[in-house]
Amino acid sequence: MIAANWKEHFTVSEASHFLHRLEEHVISHHSIEVVLFPNILTLQPLSTQLDRRKFRLGAQDGYYEDAGAYTGEVSMAMLRDLVHYVLVGHSERRHIFNESDSIIAKKTQAAVRNGIMPILCVGETLQERLANETKQVIHNQLTAGLMHLTSTEASAIVIAYEPVWAIGTGEFAKPDQVEEVILYIRKQVAELLGERAARHIRILYGGSVDDQNARSFLDIPSCDGALIGGASLNHHKFSQIVESAYRVQQNRTGKQ
Ligand code: 13P
Repeated sequence: MIAANWKEHFTVSEASHFLHRLEEHVISHHSIEVVLFPNILTLQPLSTQLDRRKFRLGAQDGYYEDAGAYTGEVSMAMLRDLVHYVLVGHSERRHIFNESDSIIAKKTQAAVRNGIMPILCVGETLQERLANETKQVIHNQLTAGLMHLTSTEASAIVIAYEPVWAIGTGEFAKPDQVEEVILYIRKQVAELLGERAARHIRILYGGSVDDQNARSFLDIPSCDGALIGGASLNHHKFSQIVESAYRVQQNRTGKQ
């Protein structure tokens, strides 16, 4: 799975223009799911323009109450007919908007309740990594984020490991660091929700992924894809990343 977090503040016409570019450049492969996460304002118009054979849509955020008076919020219930996925607990939501683990848990649950697959984002800050606290942080974020889910519901979620220090910095994690954390995430999921959930859950890497380094992450056997920010806003780079994912997939199926 290749997920594109279009965090740029696109207007409706800019987003539409960029989607045209992607539709021209990205080659669709049946085996590679490509999901675009534009801002909430552009979801509706893009949904009518989108070539559904190539792309799926996701939301960058969604509110956890299905109905009620919550000025300014867009609920998962309102998003359910528009998107397949929603990002939950992105580090920018955690750190800029002070979203707590309990809010994130409610959003994960609300997404599942509304038939939307949440992509639960977890990751440590630089300070936490330097203090050797990476696993503890991931453990806490997973325990909190998954707490309202049953093991059956866990098959309807995706986890993205995005170390905060690698987001938008150009500094990416080394593949062996990513592999170590992904294996740890799977182990935690097994403990929290059972072995079956741990086998089925998809885990992505995100943080300064681009066309040059994507392959090194996609090649990690336990990694199921990438969540891309900056490079997803460049149609050349993004289409190359999708091609890398396809080549890795071809290699894997060839070896089976
Ligand atoms: P960058 O790829 O720009 O580092 O952003 C990653 C990200 O936050 C995706 O959600």
